[in-house]
Formats: sequence, C-alpha cells, structure tokens
Amino acid sequence: MNLNILNTMNPLKIGNIEVKLPIVQGGMGVAISLSGLASAVANAGGIGVISAVAIGMTEPDYMKNYREANKRALRREIRKARTLTDGVLGVNLMVAVTDYEELLTVALEEKIDVIILGAGLPVKMPQYVTDKGFNNIHTRFIPKVSSAKAAKVIFSYWAKNFNHIPDAVVVEGPMAGGHLGFKKDELQDEMVPLSKLVEETVREISFFEKEFNKEVPVIAGGGIYTGKDMYKIMKHGAKGVKMGSRFVTTHECDASLKFKETYINAKKEDIVIINSPVGLPGRAIKNEFINQINAGNTKPFKCSWKCLKSCDFRAVPYCIAQALFNAARGNMDEGFAFAGSNAYLAKKIQSVSDVVLELKIDYYKMKYTEYIRNYIGDKVIPDRINFEDLIPVLPRIKLA
Ligand SMILES: Cc1cc2nc3c(=O)[nH]c(=O)nc-3n(C[C@H](O)[C@H](O)[C@H](O)COP(=O)(O)O)c2cc1C
Repeated sequence: MNLNILNTMNPLKIGNIEVKLPIVQGGMGVAISLSGLASAVANAGGIGVISAVAIGMTEPDYMKNYREANKRALRREIRKARTLTDGVLGVNLMVAVTDYEELLTVALEEKIDVIILGAGLPVKMPQYVTDKGFNNIHTRFIPKVSSAKAAKVIFSYWAKNFNHIPDAVVVEGPMAGGHLGFKKDELQDEMVPLSKLVEETVREISFFEKEFNKEVPVIAGGGIYTGKDMYKIMKHGAKGVKMGSRFVTTHECDASLKFKETYINAKKEDIVIINSPVGLPGRAIKNEFINQINAGNTKPFKCSWKCLKSCDFRAVPYCIAQALFNAARGNMDEGFAFAGSNAYLAKKIQSVSDVVLELKIDYYKMKYTEYIRNYIGDKVIPDRINFEDLIPVLPRIKLA
C-alpha cells in the first residue's frame, strides 16, 4: 500500500492562511483557553484560539476598570502566545458582550490571524472595521452559527452592504459545550444532526462562493472528540473541525487542575443542560453549585458592569462570568465547568501533541479502512488489518 497517498489530512485554507492540521481549537472562557493552550494547538499545526470573554478577570483591577482590564489582558495573551508559536492564532469574540468592539480593536491592532465571532450575528462587523481604518488587513473573519439560515443572514448582509463575505464559517451543532444556539428540546441526541447542519450550510454558502469567486470552508463543531468523528464529519463536507472539550484535559490548557479533573471524573449522565442566566441553554458538568441553583437558591453578587448585553443582572440568580472564572481557577464550590457532550470520555491529562497524535491515528484508521475497501473491495475484512502495527510507523512518516 502506498502510505504517501494516505498520510495527509487536507490542510484547511482560510483565505491566504494555510492551516496544516484542519482543527480549530474552540475558544473557551472564562480563562480556559489563553496563550498556553492556544500556542500549543498552533504549534501542533491547528488554529489556537484565545477566548476574549471576561479575560480581564485575570487582572487585579477587573472590578474597577473592567474595560481596560479586558483589553490589557487580551493584548497580553495575544503577545504571549506569539512568543510561544509561529503557528496560526485566533481570538474568539462574543458579539453579545458589551465591549465587543473594543476587544475587536485590540485583536486587529495585534494583527491576529483569525477572529471567530460567536454568540450573535456579526452583521455590521465589516462596517466597524472600515470605520476604524483597518483596511487591507491580514485578519480573516469566521462567524460561528447554529444553522444554515443564520449563515445565510450574515453572508447576504455582508454581500449586499459591503460587497464582501466571511472567510470561513463555523457551524456548531447541539452537542457542543458552553452556551448553545438551540432551544432546549432540540438538544436531544440526533434531533439536529451536525452532519445535516454541515450539508445545509455547505449548500447555502456555495451560492456565495460562486458569486464572489472565493472558497469559504465550512468548519464543524460540537461533540467532535475523536479522529473518527473528524473523518466522518469531513465526509459530509466540512473542511475542518472545531474542538473545545477535547483540549481541556491537556497540560497546556490554562484552566486549573481541579477544573480538568472535573472532566476526568465526569460520567455521561453528569453532563447536563442548564438554563444560563443569559437566557440561553448551556451544557455543563453537574455539581453542587448547579444543584443549588436548580433548587432555587441564589448566589448574590455585585455587578460592576453589565458584561453581557442580554443579562438582566438584577434578576439572575448568579453571575455566570464569575461562576465560570471561579471554576477555571479551581473553586468548584462557587462555579461549574461548561463541557461538550463527549467530555466524559476524558480519562487522563495529556499533552496537546499526544492528543493530536491520537486524533491523527484514529483519523488515518478510518481513511485506511476506506481506502482498502475501495481498492480491494469487500473481500478484505477490515478487522484483519492490525492498525496497532501502523502506530509506531505513523509518527515517523510525515503526518499532516
Ligand atoms: C469550558 C468551555 C467554555 C467555552 N467558552 C466559550 C466562549 O467563551 N465563547 C464561545 O463562543 N464558545 C465557548 N465555548 C464553546 C467552544 O468554543 C466550542 O465551540 C465547543 O466547545 C465545541 O464543542 P466541544 O466542546 O464538544 O468540542 C466553550 C466551551 C467549553 C467546553
């Protein structure tokens, strides 16, 4: 068998940026994916992403100077990541935060490679970029959506008003961790299959690709945990995948050890849907904090500013940003961990490079099996292929 035919994953091309490993690490707030995780994923060949949401909580003056603290911390983490990698780096921005435009400015000033825009439809974003004088910039823009319809809204608006379309799009299904863009009853297994969302989005986007003579890769996220998951979703038209939970249990992830252990100790049934104070469902690992909130208890707090546009801070039972930051720092009594539906699969803390090697091996197992089936036909019983024999070989042959 000619291994060379098989030992590459197609790179993810976003404009003029070529990402060797077609994996976008999900931006995870608050303070879960900072420069440590982002630079490690970028060094492994993927896109490492810093989450900007409430990033200033890592600064001592956050409660007094929240806006400045957020900007300062984001700039610091981008610069730190740059010293640790020459790879592709991104920032995850939530359109729903009140200082979204200020954080966008910092990311653009720092010439970040990509910006992923989630939690809202960034329809006016190009206007802001032009108004601020950021023309001919290097940064590529990737909206994150939960449906082909939402992608169409953004693409149509940008096309009509700015004669421009996004450089890629992330479509995230209902199995993701964190806040979810679905109704609660859509969050059951297979109610809205990611494969269907990907196919619909690819179809929707193809119209704009022709119109603008530009390739716009669709990146799939939510519940993707193994190389097998990657391979399968890419068969449905995704050119890359976005993975969050899988990277939490790595040495390089910026969360505390206690946060990571929450993943390792979680069972499937511990991963639950919560009603987030911001008015969206979210997926998290059940703990005493969540039990108390479900029982009607509140955690009084002082809101020094309204960080989320939609948060009714006088009525909500607790501050979600504070709870997530507490958890990131290991204070699980005063917070909880967001997690994707497959987070319970984590069994140990590994390095990012080991995670990536496992992903590649699983991916290639799928690819080899399919290749052999197509090449030799049904006569070959795939079980007879001893993939374990290939594992020592794989790191030595040039993997994508
Ligand atoms: C702990 C955690 C925190 C997250 N924080 C954010 C965030 O701040 N902003 C955002 O847009 N998405 C956030 N997400 C979603 C991830 O970026 C990613 O899209 C999602 O985790 C993909 O699903 P997976 O975890 O099953 O791989 C978070 C997810 C997790 C698990």
